[in-house]
Amino acid sequence: MTRNMTLRACVLGQGITYSRSPLIHGYWIKKYGLDAEYNICDLPEDRLPGFLTSIRQGKLAGCNVTIPYKQIVAQYLDAIDDAASATGSVNTIYSSNGVLRGTSTDGAGYLGHLREVHPTFQLKHARVLILGAGGAARSITDVLVKNGCLKVYIPNRTVTKAHEIAGLNPSIIKPLSWSNLSSKAGAVDLVVNTTSLGMVGRQPLVFPLEHTTPDCIISDIVYAPLETRLLAQARSLGRPVLDGLGMLLHQAVPGFQLWFGVAPQVTDELRTLIEQDLLSNG
Ligand code: ATR
Repeated sequence: MTRNMTLRACVLGQGITYSRSPLIHGYWIKKYGLDAEYNICDLPEDRLPGFLTSIRQGKLAGCNVTIPYKQIVAQYLDAIDDAASATGSVNTIYSSNGVLRGTSTDGAGYLGHLREVHPTFQLKHARVLILGAGGAARSITDVLVKNGCLKVYIPNRTVTKAHEIAGLNPSIIKPLSWSNLSSKAGAVDLVVNTTSLGMVGRQPLVFPLEHTTPDCIISDIVYAPLETRLLAQARSLGRPVLDGLGMLLHQAVPGFQLWFGVAPQVTDELRTLIEQDLLSNG
C-alpha cells in the first residue's frame, strides 16, 4: 500500500503542563526524515473513547499516555500486553489490524539503558535492591524478574506497597521495611533508586553506599538533577553508575517503532538535546 498521508502520534493526558516526549520523538522524526508528527493531546476523559477510536481506525498511528490516564485507559482498549497488565498501567497505545493495544515501556526503557551502558552485566542470577515501591518500581521489578534475577529486595516507607509488588513473584521479590533499607546493601549487584528522594526540591536519599561491593551498579531513575547526590557519591567511591535520563529516552523507543516503523537510536546528540532542555525547563 502506498501511504501518502502524514503519520501522526501524540502524548495523551489532561492538564499537561510540560512534556519532553514531543522533543524526543520530534528529534527522531527529523533524524530519520519521516513524514510524521508528534504533538500534545490534552483531553477530558469523556473524549477518550472517540480519540481512541481514531487510533483503532488508523487515522492516528498511536499515542503515549501520561497523567491522569495511565491507570484508567486500559478499559477503553481491546488488548493489553503482559508488561501493561503486570504494571497496571499503559503508557503506549497503537493499533494492529484494527485491534487497539496498550503496553507499558518503562521497564523496557530501564533495561535498554542498563544494557547500553553496562553491556556485560549479567541480569540472570543477579540480586537487586529497589528503593521505593511506586509505579516505576513495579515496572522495573517486573522486567528484572522476567530477565532472570535471583532476588529483588524492595524496601519502602509504606511497606504494604512493596508487598503488592511482591505479588508478581513472591519467591523472588522480598519486601522490606524502610528502616531495613541498609540491610541488603552489601548483598546485591544492582541498586535502583525509584523514590522521589534526591529530586530537585526534595530531601536527598541517604543510603550507605560504602557497604556495597565494588562492582555493584548504582542507578537512579531521578533525572532532575541529572547527577543526584546518590550518583555523585557512587562515582566518588568508584562504583559503576546508571543515571535516570537514559530510561526516559529508552522508554520512548518502542512507541516510535510501533507507530512509525523505524527502530530509533538513543544517540549522544539526543541526550544532549534533552539535557539542555532539563537545564532550561527543569
Ligand atoms: P512513581 O509511580 O512515579 O514511581 P510514586 O508512586 O509517587 O512515584 O512513588 C514514589 C516513591 O517514593 C514511593 O515508594 C514513596 O514511598 P511511599 O510508597 O511510602 O509513599 C517514596 N518516597 C517519597 N517520599 C519519601 C520519603 N520522604 N521517604 C521515603 N520514601 C519516600
